[in-house]
Amino acid sequence: MNAMNKGLHAYRAGVLHFTGDPAFADQAYSWHEDGLLVVDGAHVAAAGDYAKLSSTLPPGTPIEDWRGKIIMPGFVDTHIHYPQTDIIGSPAAGLLPWLETYTFPAERKFSNPLHGAEVARFFLDELTRNGTTTAMVYCTVHPESVEAFFTESEARNLRMVAGKVLMDRNCPETLCDTAEGGARDSEALLKKWHGRGRQMYAITPRFAPTSTEAQLQLAGELARAYPEVYIQSHVAENTDEVAWAKALYPWARSYLDIYDHYGLMRERAMYAHCIWLDDIDRARMAETGTAAALCPTSNLFLGSGLFDFPRADAARVPLSIGTDVGGGTSFSMLRTMNELYKVARMGGSHLSALRMFYLATLGGARSMRLEGTIGNFTAGCEADFIVLDPRATPLLARRTGTAGSLEELLFALALLGDDRVVAATYVAGRRASAGER
Ligand code: GUN
Ligand code: ZN
Repeated sequence: MNAMNKGLHAYRAGVLHFTGDPAFADQAYSWHEDGLLVVDGAHVAAAGDYAKLSSTLPPGTPIEDWRGKIIMPGFVDTHIHYPQTDIIGSPAAGLLPWLETYTFPAERKFSNPLHGAEVARFFLDELTRNGTTTAMVYCTVHPESVEAFFTESEARNLRMVAGKVLMDRNCPETLCDTAEGGARDSEALLKKWHGRGRQMYAITPRFAPTSTEAQLQLAGELARAYPEVYIQSHVAENTDEVAWAKALYPWARSYLDIYDHYGLMRERAMYAHCIWLDDIDRARMAETGTAAALCPTSNLFLGSGLFDFPRADAARVPLSIGTDVGGGTSFSMLRTMNELYKVARMGGSHLSALRMFYLATLGGARSMRLEGTIGNFTAGCEADFIVLDPRATPLLARRTGTAGSLEELLFALALLGDDRVVAATYVAGRRASAGER
């Protein structure tokens, strides 16, 4: 370790991170039971065994003692709506009535920037408390809602992706933009925010049924003009929605094909749900580098359907996990893993805990083409990390106390854990303060 590095700080705990997908790679993770994470300012310097690494530290390097806990990269939530924070857990008979009854009225309030700022503060506190350090976030149709979100995220130095929702038909008039106006606003916002500090922009057509063909056309042109910018939308969530998309775009081969037609499938494109796809769709996602955000708490709550792991894995679709708050019922990526496991089980698959933690960290980063920036502890990565307490509740202490392997320990955390497990969250090398965690 270089003695010139004045900003060195080390953390002693069990240290876990991933270098590959455990479903496909032999040596996909690195686990140091008595480990050390060394951080230089805002970046990872090294991760390894305490016994080996500690002797390389310059004398006087501070070491925080988190023995008994597990340090891993911060969670990456690839699909969430900040304006839906206040309607989480609202009763409705499925997706489309839920949108009409709760979502659209809640989103209307975001024309007021003060409301946006207040909700953004609560939302980012909640993400941080749950150990999520990066998310792909939907704002509302109002540019003010994007300004409010990025302003708050930038103040906390979080690495976040967000975008203005594009929606120019089949929605309340007060939430409707126009094809040209929406594209203009999106371009102004992405020019201002994409790459400013740790903020990144996503072109965000809500879903094909609430956009005209002209709007998707312009969104695709923007996506071609700015290839480094993200794209996010919903696809094939619910059978009524799929039928609606088919009626509105009768020429399309499939729902996903609508987005493909307009150039909205490429690297850095993230589609939530991906339940009612066929194998041609899945092959197209893999071929274009388009990623899926799996949202099990939302899919079960709204009765949308079950994600098909075997078919997605056979096609090698890039996968990641989203909470989809407020259709999703928890900000916790651990609780989301719990339901993801059961969804997979209903389809005959067994998801290992190692794979679930991969999907919640490096899998998210890879799907976003951010490997090497976030998602693991490769030297040079940004130092976003969390400290998990396997003894956070009496039941967890009892269960993890008899875990016979790392897999069993992680499985207990995924199935029994929630925000109480997250003992600390560090953002770019700095511990998030009490209000932010
Ligand atoms: N499809 C279109 N908009 C939404 C939304 O806000 N939430 C979910 N879950 N699905 C959608
Ligand atoms: Zn959503």
